Amino acid sequence: MPFTLPPLPYETAALAAQGMCQETLELHHGKHHNAYVTALNGLIESKGLAGKSLETIVAEAGQAGADGLPVLNQAGQHYNHVLFWQVMSPNGGGDKLPGALAAKIDSDLGGLQAFKDAFKQAGVTQFGSGWAWLIIGADGKLKVTKTPNGANPISTGEGQPILGCDVWEHAYYLDFRNVRPNYLDNFLNKLVDWEVVAGLMDKGGLSTGQAA
Ligand SMILES: [Fe+2]
Repeated sequence: MPFTLPPLPYETAALAAQGMCQETLELHHGKHHNAYVTALNGLIESKGLAGKSLETIVAEAGQAGADGLPVLNQAGQHYNHVLFWQVMSPNGGGDKLPGALAAKIDSDLGGLQAFKDAFKQAGVTQFGSGWAWLIIGADGKLKVTKTPNGANPISTGEGQPILGCDVWEHAYYLDFRNVRPNYLDNFLNKLVDWEVVAGLMDKGGLSTGQAA
């Protein structure tokens, strides 16, 4: 099968002390993410996706509007979760950001606390399922944004995501029940691997290496 579920970059129990338990990761990665991969592979032939990169498929599905939704729902969610697993780490959290990332957050977003407030607000106010994002916008500046369901800043044409937080209930219900604000606080303060985010900023976004 062309698209594959990449292994987590840590054990499923590795984030338990930081507010994401083993059962959450087993279900979220092994069941939910895997289901998006399986469904996307099932669309390759009927939707003419063969030979295209995941990033291209996401962008084109977004541009197609309502007609692109069946592909975007699966391709977007595959991309989004590949990014999500990478931006968390057992060594994540804290407020010590790599210098270049810290400076860019200061200049574009008014500092780390202002960024965290905006990111949390984006996640809390995303009605229903979706994602909160830190992106490199088309003008090269960092921006905070949000998207519904399986969409992302590539599909909307807003820019390249370098940090994303899943605010679907499946991401937080076992650990935080219905309290999404606490999940977002925990994500920002205990889980984010700022070194990875800084690396994605340097590269201008994520290359998943996944293709149909
Ligand atoms: Fe998810």
